[in-house]
Amino acid sequence: MVTQIEKINAVQPEKEKIQAAAGIIRSGGLVAFPTETVYGLGADALLPEGSRRIYAAKGRPSDNPLIVHIADFGALDRIVRALPPQARMLADAFWPGPLTMIFQKSDAVPYETTGGLDTVAVRMPNHAVALELIRAGGGYIAAPSANTSGRPSPTTAAHVYTDLQGKIPMILDGGAVGIGIESTIIDLSGISRRADGTWAGDEMPMILRPGYITGEMLSDVIGSVCDDPGLAGTGENMRPKAPGMKYRHYAPKAELTVVSGEPHRVAVRMNAIAEENRSRGERTGIICTEETREWYRADVVKCIGSRGDADSIARNLYAFLREFDDLGVDRILSESFADLRIGKAVMNRLLKAAGQRVIEV
Ligand code: TXA
Ligand code: MG
Repeated sequence: MVTQIEKINAVQPEKEKIQAAAGIIRSGGLVAFPTETVYGLGADALLPEGSRRIYAAKGRPSDNPLIVHIADFGALDRIVRALPPQARMLADAFWPGPLTMIFQKSDAVPYETTGGLDTVAVRMPNHAVALELIRAGGGYIAAPSANTSGRPSPTTAAHVYTDLQGKIPMILDGGAVGIGIESTIIDLSGISRRADGTWAGDEMPMILRPGYITGEMLSDVIGSVCDDPGLAGTGENMRPKAPGMKYRHYAPKAELTVVSGEPHRVAVRMNAIAEENRSRGERTGIICTEETREWYRADVVKCIGSRGDADSIARNLYAFLREFDDLGVDRILSESFADLRIGKAVMNRLLKAAGQRVIEV
């Protein structure tokens, strides 16, 4: 199969390009498209065949459910069994945007899309290409990140092409994405309707994946939320509730270690480790920030963004992890970004890539 890369205007998408892509979706095929978080690999969410093709193209385990993307709040009625009032409140505050909500699913959603679960994850992306494609494609597009399973999520069309060329017919290229890490996921499926028609929070809304929308932002809108304890857990019995969070994630070819602590001490330690590596004939790459760049001496020193602009770090993270594989280093050392506004989300991904290896100084 030849993979066509179609450049498309990210603000005012050309109608004929959207129509061509939507035609593929409606006939059960796959199209990769930009969203504000990462590129998605789309198929009609209500066609079992569409979801099956996604799993095959990504090499993804089929028990790992997909997020259904919609373009209008009213589209929820068809795919959700019962909507808790929190859904409207969160949608008003954050949709379209980088927030995914989980609900009890209706019969319209095939189990192929939800990985066999009775719940469905839904998101309204904040990107004109995505929204137009969803509308023209029938209103419901299942889309995981458009990477090969186990690789970093793609933040450019070129990343998608590297992973999926020959496996999908079309990539809509709307340029680099804005946010760079996947949406925050909040589980509202534990909130059920009482017999008297009122709503009760049987289970507190739970964050299954940290992202750009933080716990604080969510609780400002709907009151208390909690983190899935399985997210922090490295213990045997601690399983994350989002099936996708349990899989081994991308690890760069070079061993990655996070060094955490007071910034000057971190730099001193990283330089010492780099020196030690060099004496053994090993090349070291360092991931630092604009504020700290001048302190480092190593074979490769790369600045991931600015601490004054935490969003820049999220935006560059996945591209950085891909690039380091081509730089010929044996070991990578990274600063910690835990103290930044979206530090939880960034560290969740970075620590997975590091196999949870951290040096505290
Ligand atoms: O930003 C995003 O969310 C991107 C863009 C393309 O929208 N999509 C994305 O999809 O990150 P994916 O498939 O790479 O990650 C979806 C995550 C997985 O960890 C999956 O297990 C979880 O969502 N998930 C989906 N449905 C679920 C459900 N019903 N219950 C629990 N977890 C669910
Ligand atoms: Mg993914």
